[in-house]
Amino acid sequence: MTLLRLGVLASGSGSNLQAILDACAAKAIPAQVAVVIANLPDAGALERGRAAGVPAVLVPHQGVPREQYDALLVDQLRRNQVELVCLAGFMRLLSPVFLQAFQNNILNIHPSLLPAFPGLHAVRQALAAGVRVSGCTVHVVDEGTDTGPVLVQAAVPVLDDDDEDTLSARILAQEHRCYPRAIGLWAEGRYSIEGRRVRVRGAAGDPARTLAAPELSG
Ligand code: GRF
Repeated sequence: MTLLRLGVLASGSGSNLQAILDACAAKAIPAQVAVVIANLPDAGALERGRAAGVPAVLVPHQGVPREQYDALLVDQLRRNQVELVCLAGFMRLLSPVFLQAFQNNILNIHPSLLPAFPGLHAVRQALAAGVRVSGCTVHVVDEGTDTGPVLVQAAVPVLDDDDEDTLSARILAQEHRCYPRAIGLWAEGRYSIEGRRVRVRGAAGDPARTLAAPELSG
């Protein structure tokens, strides 16, 4: 079977990258990570990529104009024949140069149930708003910030004594389930995008798109 070639962009520890690498290694999804790219030298994602035998490239952004920087990213991704770009904690806004190069072939993961709490500090925003349920979203990237069509979401409860760390950790555990699931749907071509809605083909009752955390499943 042909494996979908992924390019994972990260700025941080890369735990989502790890979940993707693990799902690929376990053959749970028909995909392979073709390249890992980070903008920060101390991004743990680089080490995780190397440990998995994947090319891991540092593309520092300091002092590089945004469009020029994005062209460097596109070059690296093309060189590695990437078909689907997965943003996994990549803390940079992407310019039209990038979006057009991989139009409709970029996924992002965000730690809230979008469209609630887009942008920075999503978990802090959820706590400040006093919601009882939050979660994570894997969505297709468009020109807005966290506005693209939603592919997979998972919900978690917000507990009375939660702080940003505890709620982030609960959400992160669900991110690690959602991202491989979304990539699997993508790789199998089991989706179609109609306006803002992503339709997923599958058996009746297929839980592909919404993963309730055990605490919420009743
Ligand atoms: C995750 O919370 C993700 O939702 C956000 O950045 C974080 C990345 O974590 N976009 P990691 O680097 O994958 O551990």
